[in-house]
Amino acid sequence: MNAKKTLPSYLEQTDAVKARFDRLKAREVILEVNNLGKSFPGTSGKGEKETVALKDVSFQTHRREFLCIVGPSGCGKSTLIRILAGLETSTSGKVLLEGKPVTGPGKDRGMVFQGYTLFPWLTVKRNVMFGLEVNGAGHDEAESQALQWLSLIGLEKFANAYPNQLSGGMKQRVAIARALANQPRILLMDEPFGALDAQTRARMQAHLLEIWRKIDITIIFITHDLDEAIYLADRVLVLKAHPGEVQELIEVPVAHPRSTDQFITDEFLATKARLEELIYAKSSHDDEEELYPMMSRLAEVDDNVE
Ligand SMILES: Nc1ncnc2c1ncn2[C@@H]1O[C@H](COP(=O)(O)OP(=O)(O)OP(=O)(O)O)[C@@H](O)[C@H]1O
Ligand SMILES: [Mg+2]
Repeated sequence: MNAKKTLPSYLEQTDAVKARFDRLKAREVILEVNNLGKSFPGTSGKGEKETVALKDVSFQTHRREFLCIVGPSGCGKSTLIRILAGLETSTSGKVLLEGKPVTGPGKDRGMVFQGYTLFPWLTVKRNVMFGLEVNGAGHDEAESQALQWLSLIGLEKFANAYPNQLSGGMKQRVAIARALANQPRILLMDEPFGALDAQTRARMQAHLLEIWRKIDITIIFITHDLDEAIYLADRVLVLKAHPGEVQELIEVPVAHPRSTDQFITDEFLATKARLEELIYAKSSHDDEEELYPMMSRLAEVDDNVE
């Protein structure tokens, strides 16, 4: 067996990567999250303590940034993205999208979640047209735009198919086209590829990067999969559980354009090691143990290996 290789620090960046981050951070701030907090009341009503899902969460994303959010199960990722979407209200703090407070859902935000949310009774094309028509586009305009989005995701041939005629990956591609059709400023994705098999998932990741390169969109993407986060993201926001707080905002030192060959590079592995340290090493010390005993045991095993 080879001795374990010493990795460089995940904080080390090549000149090209550093220059890219300088350009990214010089771009306007699209989303600003300030001291966000969210508590859910206890469920039984017998003095059960409230759940603090998010505490004092602050971060910013820049135009055309790809931000991934990771953290242990139950740390408040979905709660956070639901607040960004305007589907949930916060208990404290605020969210500004292009400087304006988010108070409810809006067409400036597109959403793609894990479950397939297409209308089964509408064709693929009609599914994409739906939001456009709701937002005032006429039939012909909506149709022509829908076909352009289907072409971008490579499914123009399936325009007249129904969702049950598509594979899981194809359905999520349509969901992405539908979310993008209203030309949102930001795309909110909560484990969108979580239900897909490994091969389809890898294809979808490459596909999403390709779409992101072609259009002016800022993406917030939640995932449990650390490889997925590093492969996709400019920066990775790491949350901790109980309460959900920001642990670190990591600049991924892996160069662009991304490719799956980079999974074994030193920068990639160093970033992954840092994420594992942040996410798993803490689990055995907090009440994660009570809720997720298996996960805590796994973290201990990981520690032993180190
Ligand atoms: N509607 C609700 N009522 C009460 N508690 C809630 C509600 N929604 C979420 N919670 C609690 O808030 C915390 C954060 O939940 P959330 O679903 O945001 O976590 P998550 O990070 O998305 O988890 P996962 O990785 O498993 O998807 C959990 O303790 C959860 O039980
Ligand atoms: Mg979730």
